[in-house]
Amino acid sequence: MKKIILSLLLTVGAISAANAVEGNAEAGKAKASVCGACHGATGVNPSPTYPDLAGQHAAYLVKQLADFKSGARTDVMMAPMAANLTDQDMADLAAFYASQERAKATVASDSASSPSISAPAGDIELVTSTSAKAIFAGDVKSGQAKSAMCVACHGADGNSPVPMYPNLAGQSEKYLIKQLAHFKSGERKNPVMAGIAAGLSETDMKDLSAFFAVQASKAGAGETSKVGQKLYFGGDAKKGISACVACHGVKGKGMSHAGFPALAGQNVDYLKTQLVSFRKGSRANDRNSMMQNIAIKLSDNDIEELVKYMSSL
Ligand code: HEC
Ligand code: HEC
Ligand code: HEC
Repeated sequence: MKKIILSLLLTVGAISAANAVEGNAEAGKAKASVCGACHGATGVNPSPTYPDLAGQHAAYLVKQLADFKSGARTDVMMAPMAANLTDQDMADLAAFYASQERAKATVASDSASSPSISAPAGDIELVTSTSAKAIFAGDVKSGQAKSAMCVACHGADGNSPVPMYPNLAGQSEKYLIKQLAHFKSGERKNPVMAGIAAGLSETDMKDLSAFFAVQASKAGAGETSKVGQKLYFGGDAKKGISACVACHGVKGKGMSHAGFPALAGQNVDYLKTQLVSFRKGSRANDRNSMMQNIAIKLSDNDIEELVKYMSSL
């Protein structure tokens, strides 16, 4: 009986999901920016780890997203992605991907002839670093001049000597611009940075971010942790913790094009504050609550070990 009801529900669910909400491909395109890190900007990623979404049936895509959200389909990477999508978001995203061209044969043969890469996040890094790195929105030289007022806390080259202040060197430009804008708007709350960001124009933010993004980050000085390393690479399926590597990369360098920040060699105290803030919800400026959904499942001990590992990279 249960089975029958369940399958009835699934059928009804699939039909209503397909019919109830009209998707808008334009709106979906904007919402898909975060998905691009793994699925490619247009829903095609030559890496064999990630399914192509381009040209897929919209109704199928909606159903998969709904299933990831409900837990009917489980995947540590997709669960946090789907957790906060509304029915409208799902319909829009599906409309967007359905409207994209299917992967070309050339893409497939390219990936077939390229050397195979074992770690899934290695693929991501490879894919995103080709498209992103070169383009900076801001002007590095002007950024350097403007950075004089940041030196006291973040260091002249963005490597902060004080563990409570974050390193900015080598951080994703896109990520830095977003944080500065959010400190100014109050979406990310910190009294010190609010005061500083208040005086920055949009151009200042871009220039400063470009400057810090091109600075070389120093190797981490933290002590490493085997437990932290295991969590970072494997997550914890039982507790529903996604592997950090999926978004922050094999070497902790993040994915600049997706705005996923680098964590490698970041200061220990700062990292700990951020994970605790995401867990409490006092830092809530992460898109789709991506980090909050993960941090809420981390124990104090998980955080201790993760922070040791990340700061040692
Ligand atoms: C961190 C990497 C990552 C990100 C970011 C990501 N996905 Fe996925 N996605 C995956 C993986 C891995 C799978 C395959 C899951 C499996 O094996 O069941 C998947 C599967 C899917 C599927 C099912 C495809 C199929 O053919 O069954 C859909 C739909 C999907 N993702 C949509 C999205 C959307 C929409 C977003 C953005 C809101 C997104 N994904 C962001 C990694 C990612
Ligand atoms: C008086 C010390 C101080 C000065 C000066 C300062 N900052 Fe900060 N900055 C901080 C602190 C503290 C944080 C951590 C805030 C938190 O915990 O959320 C921070 C965080 C940041 C972050 C977020 C980093 C991340 O990884 O998320 C950025 C970006 C940033 N600062 C940029 C700047 C820029 C650009 C300047 C100069 C225009 C500047 N800061 C000047 C203290 C300072
Ligand atoms: C689905 C992608 C995703 C996964 C998986 C993920 N993160 Fe994040 N993480 C993000 C994003 C996006 C941000 C930036 C949020 C923002 O824009 O403010 C972030 C930010 C952070 C920050 C703050 C960095 C800074 O400079 O302030 C820390 C620390 C962090 N993540 C640690 C982790 C750890 C530890 C794990 C694994 C347990 C993890 N993340 C898994 C996407 C992810």
